[in-house]
Amino acid sequence: MNAHDADVAIRARGLTRRFGDLVAVDHVDLDVPTRHVYGFLGPNGSGKSTTIRMLCGLLTPSEGEIEVLGLRIPAEAEALRRHIGYMTQRFSLFEDLTVRENFEFLAAIQGVSRPRQRIDELVEQHHFGGLQQQLAGTMSGGQKQRLALACAVIHEPELLFLDEPTSAVDPESRRDFWEKLFELADAGTTLLVSTHLMDEAERCHRLAILDHGVLVADGTPHELTGRLQGRTFIVDSSDPRRAQKVIERLPGVLGVAQIGNHLRVLTAARETDAKGMADACRSIDQALAGAGQHASTRETPANLEDVFVAVTRQETKRPERAA
Ligand SMILES: Nc1ncnc2c1ncn2[C@@H]1O[C@H](COP(=O)(O)OP(=O)(O)O)[C@@H](O)[C@H]1O
Ligand SMILES: [Mg+2]
Repeated sequence: MNAHDADVAIRARGLTRRFGDLVAVDHVDLDVPTRHVYGFLGPNGSGKSTTIRMLCGLLTPSEGEIEVLGLRIPAEAEALRRHIGYMTQRFSLFEDLTVRENFEFLAAIQGVSRPRQRIDELVEQHHFGGLQQQLAGTMSGGQKQRLALACAVIHEPELLFLDEPTSAVDPESRRDFWEKLFELADAGTTLLVSTHLMDEAERCHRLAILDHGVLVADGTPHELTGRLQGRTFIVDSSDPRRAQKVIERLPGVLGVAQIGNHLRVLTAARETDAKGMADACRSIDQALAGAGQHASTRETPANLEDVFVAVTRQETKRPERAA
């Protein structure tokens, strides 16, 4: 690989990790531009954490090359350590220390040069003014998450790895947390964030989709939806669960997901003209009528979830709500 390219924070080629017979990460090529929020989208077990651990230098690859901030990993992992931050879904806080003590302890470990000044800055930026003397263990999930993020950036890393950082918090905390991630990117930090949540993936500047350890697609959310070779339909019907069974058996249907009271259907064929689309809608309605259901089908713009279904050819694990 070339000398350090200042616009690329992470470059991996053929990155592979085996555990016995299992190929957890399978020849992944990755280019993460600096100052981006780069998403890693994939279901449980798709290899997100294993990839991140290799990129940080915590786990040795079975095969492949990695360059992070111009350093060859794992050989130069020690030098990388002070330039990166790492946060996981299990926030590694000291629950029996106060907020301020957590900062002080980490500042010491990281060798932060002017700790008091840096901690005051973090308290201000991350809104811990009134919470400094509170024990970390007594805070809410959202507060712990904010503290974990502030701790992860105490040494002002150029690159931050976040492995499913929002799994344990409520939707409002998730939203605030993402605002913070974009603030960090604006200030010059590169962020690699793994998630299995579509709405989070939609927010990333760029993302990679992993499935069974294979990188199946990457690009901006807009590029990914634009490239989709398929069409998406919304079906309103009297009995969505039964309708789903009928539609799944129709030719060309890649996936059907129940979202609230309607179904979202992805088909393989790309109908180009209005007549083709109308025909496709009618054939879904007719199939459901044949099964004794009244339904109405319309086309809808593709989203990342559709991309995900198309590239993985399986339904996502979106929790179904009672109709
Ligand atoms: N240390 C390990 N030993 C054996 N198998 C592992 C180990 N770590 C991860 N795996 C397996 O590798 C696959 C990918 O796991 P992981 O990277 O944790 O996925 P994700 O983070 O996307 O949920 C899974 O099948 C998992 O069981
Ligand atoms: Mg994981």
